[in-house]
Amino acid sequence: MMDLSTKYLGMVLPHPLIVGASPLSDDLDSIKRLEDAGAAAIVMRSLFEEQITREQLSEYLNLDCPGESFAEATSYFPSPNAFALGPVQYLEHVRQAKEAVRIPVIASLNGSTPGGWIDYARLMAQAGADALELNLYRIATDPHTTSGDIERQAIETVREVKQSVTIPVAVKLSPFYAAFAHVAREFDRAGADGLVLFNRFYQPDIDPEELAATRTLHLSDSTELRLRLHWLAILSGRVRAALAVTGGVHTAVDIVKATMAGAHVTQMVSALLMHGPDHLRTVLTDLVVWLQEHEWSSLSEMRGNMSLSKVPDADAYERANYMLMLQGWRT
Ligand SMILES: Cc1cc2nc3c(=O)[nH]c(=O)nc-3n(C[C@H](O)[C@H](O)[C@H](O)COP(=O)(O)O)c2cc1C
Repeated sequence: MMDLSTKYLGMVLPHPLIVGASPLSDDLDSIKRLEDAGAAAIVMRSLFEEQITREQLSEYLNLDCPGESFAEATSYFPSPNAFALGPVQYLEHVRQAKEAVRIPVIASLNGSTPGGWIDYARLMAQAGADALELNLYRIATDPHTTSGDIERQAIETVREVKQSVTIPVAVKLSPFYAAFAHVAREFDRAGADGLVLFNRFYQPDIDPEELAATRTLHLSDSTELRLRLHWLAILSGRVRAALAVTGGVHTAVDIVKATMAGAHVTQMVSALLMHGPDHLRTVLTDLVVWLQEHEWSSLSEMRGNMSLSKVPDADAYERANYMLMLQGWRT
């Protein structure tokens, strides 16, 4: 019997393959299908700080139609109709999802500044969420804002979320910090129970004829995994928080690599959007076959075996590999 079990956010899971934050959790049928296909847990799509702040403001001012009322203050903000779930609906959806399936349901909050919206962490927990994923997506465009400002706000946000709930909290991060290892350690110290590597960024293209920025969502492929593998290997064994990978997990071998780099769970979205929920079962079957063929008896015995945490001077090691890679190219 192959032992694929793992621990993540205080939960013992039968295997590491979970469904990442996405529309895949939008309806109960789809959630049930993912459970039937073998998902170990499911992360719901995000509820955004701006959605909550707006709702709270409109309640405070007793306005009926928040979509119209703050057009000036937040002119880029999408109308409430643009969101699949409003704040109140979101909580109801968590409740229904918890009733519909037995696997853990992880709710997702998306915001990066401390504030009253964080009340929703508590409400999500009350609605039955087994854990929270806090997505800190932010693009710092203001030249007056320093990396220190951004990091302090993000860390304070994590602290506030941790103070509002007793359920575990994972933090979904971007790789674009000057000193990511330090930032990861600071989130760890702020109490994050899990670190989710990495957010993918909105990268608009330009339509040169229409003079317009085009907003397209590209699904990933396995090449996106490499950035995650690198940082998992750097962090593994250096933080207390559990490590999750999101971005580029498509196959059983991707799961093996992520586990060797130190991941406790692997999240999947693009592959399921492309191939449907049953792809989960296929990947799990492939995983067992791969492990048997390569004579592993569990995933835990390989977890972190490719970690860089024991490399004495990892900065120099990284430079050396970089130089060798470039110099290795011969015409
Ligand atoms: C259509 C779509 C919607 C998504 N919505 C969210 C979201 O609401 N919150 C979030 O944190 N990530 C969201 N993501 C990002 C995914 O959770 C995931 O991190 C990303 O797709 C990379 O994983 P993958 O390579 O398995 O697709 C979304 C991705 C897609 C494709």
